This record gives sequence, structure tokens and C-alpha cells, in this order.
Amino acid sequence: MKKVALVTGASAGFGKAIVEKLVSDGFQVVAAARRLEKLQSLQAELGRESVYPLQMDITKTDQVDAALASLPDEWKAIELLVNNAGLALGLDKAYEADFSDWMTMINTNIVGLTYLTRQLLPQMVKKNSGMVINLGSTAGTVPYPGANVYGASKAFVKQFSLNLRADLAGTKIRVTNIEPGLCEGTEFSNVRFKGDDDRANKLYQGAHAIKPEDIANTVSWIAGQPEHVNINRIEIMPVSQSFGPQPVYRD
Ligand SMILES: NC(=O)c1ccc[n+]([C@@H]2O[C@H](COP(=O)([O-])OP(=O)(O)OC[C@H]3O[C@@H](n4cnc5c(N)ncnc54)[C@H](OP(=O)(O)O)[C@@H]3O)[C@@H](O)[C@H]2O)c1
Repeated sequence: MKKVALVTGASAGFGKAIVEKLVSDGFQVVAAARRLEKLQSLQAELGRESVYPLQMDITKTDQVDAALASLPDEWKAIELLVNNAGLALGLDKAYEADFSDWMTMINTNIVGLTYLTRQLLPQMVKKNSGMVINLGSTAGTVPYPGANVYGASKAFVKQFSLNLRADLAGTKIRVTNIEPGLCEGTEFSNVRFKGDDDRANKLYQGAHAIKPEDIANTVSWIAGQPEHVNINRIEIMPVSQSFGPQPVYRD
């Protein structure tokens, strides 16, 4: 029997690449997102025995419950949960940002991720087997102007991941937080800048940023570690990205 993984945000970017990689590693993968047609294309590409498209909006707990309940028996025993769905909206200063954008980020990156995890953990604990991989961000550690709620939501994901490890002590369940820096080839910046593709594209010009395949390879490597090894956190940046000095503004 193949192991079952569930990947959220599988309709684009990292999630799609993670599904492709996990299937090539021998998993059968429940691919979840809101855009069903994208998930169906992924299923057509990788095969019905390898991918099960699961439409759900992770901010809506009733949709998550109904989607999980609808899984056929052979797709229910989820061994690997990849909490990848997430988004940033806007890059405005906190005193100018749109509050509804903040709520969308909180509801997706925090509420959606924690609810799905809470729903799937009991079956992992019962079997004393499983792995949770969360998609955090360097923004959860490194502050930058305009990151306000996005960065804070990823700091939550980082600490939630570590606290899960504390609660799961004594079990064989493993938890990892992946914290990428600048990544291209996803819809992330087009979503952040609300369809302003020029602004999104400029961000990556000449940057040789991380690609979805790099994150998919990282997930695959983590999932392939021997049973006694837990990767707690892994921070990944392109070589072109680094750290700046802390600015001091003077009168
Ligand atoms: N790209 C980067 O630079 C970067 C860096 C660090 C961390 N990250 C994190 O990595 C993760 C993936 O990012 P990405 O770059 O691959 O972004 P992306 O290309 O925009 O993909 C985001 C995915 O999340 C799904 N999603 C968004 N809201 C959802 C909701 N309410 N319910 C269900 N699914 C939802 C989208 O699917 P639907 O629209 O079909 O629902 C999509 O599949 C995110 O958590 C992001 O914060 C990205």
C-alpha cells in the first residue's frame, strides 16, 4: 500500500510542485485547493491512482469537514500533511493596510492551517505515525516594512510547529516548518499585488530566486528522513538574498 499525503494549495506554485514530487516518490496524494479545475488537470497529468482532487476553502471549517468526510476509504489514512496553502496580501504600512486583507491572511495562514491540523492529528496519534510539514517563511523571523500581518502569521506557523513537537513528544509523529525566502515561479506575488503582474515580475528580475522545485525537493528530503530524525525548522534563501543592516533614522 502506498502512503497517502494531503497537500494544501496544490493548484499552483509550491503545492503543485510538491504533489508532483511526492507522486514520483511513491505517495498517493490528496491535492487540495479552491480551484477544482487546476486540481483535475494535475490528476490528468499524474494519474487517477496517484492524485485525488479535493476542493475546499481552508478558511471555511464546514467545507474542510465536508471535504475530509468525502474522501474515499483508500485516501483517508493521511500519513503526511503538507500545510502549504497561504498568501500575502499587500505590502502597505500597518497604518495604511486594508484590514480585510489582514483578516484574509489570518483566516488562511493561521485559522485554516490550525483547523486542518487539528482535524487530522488525532488519526495520526491513534496510529502513532505521521508527519506534518508546514510552510512558514523567512518573514516569520525577519521583519521588513509592509510584512506586518503576513510576517506575524508566519511567526505563528513557526511557533505552532515547534509547540506541536512539544505536544507530540513520546509519539513517532514528526513536524517541520519550512521557511523559504524569495521564490519565483508561483502566483504568490501576483496575489500579493492583486494582479499587478508588472510589479510582481520586477521583484524577481535578475534575482535567481528559489523555484517551486527547490521547495518540493526539500519536502521530499524531509519526508525521506529515517523515522528517528525530525527536521524542526529549515530556512532556505536564494544565494542572491541576504541580510541588511538595521537602519537608524536620524534627525
Ligand atoms: N513564493 C514565495 O516567495 C514564498 C516565500 C515564503 C513562503 N511562501 C509560502 O508558501 C506557501 C505557498 O506559496 P506559493 O508561492 O506557492 O503561492 P501561490 O502560487 O499563490 O499558491 C498558493 C496556493 O494556496 C491556495 N490557497 C490560497 N487560499 C486558499 C484558501 N482559502 N483555501 C484553500 N487554498 C487556498 C491557492 O489555491 P486556490 O487559489 O486554488 O485556492 C494556491 O494553490 C504559502 O503559504 C506562502 O505564504 C511563499
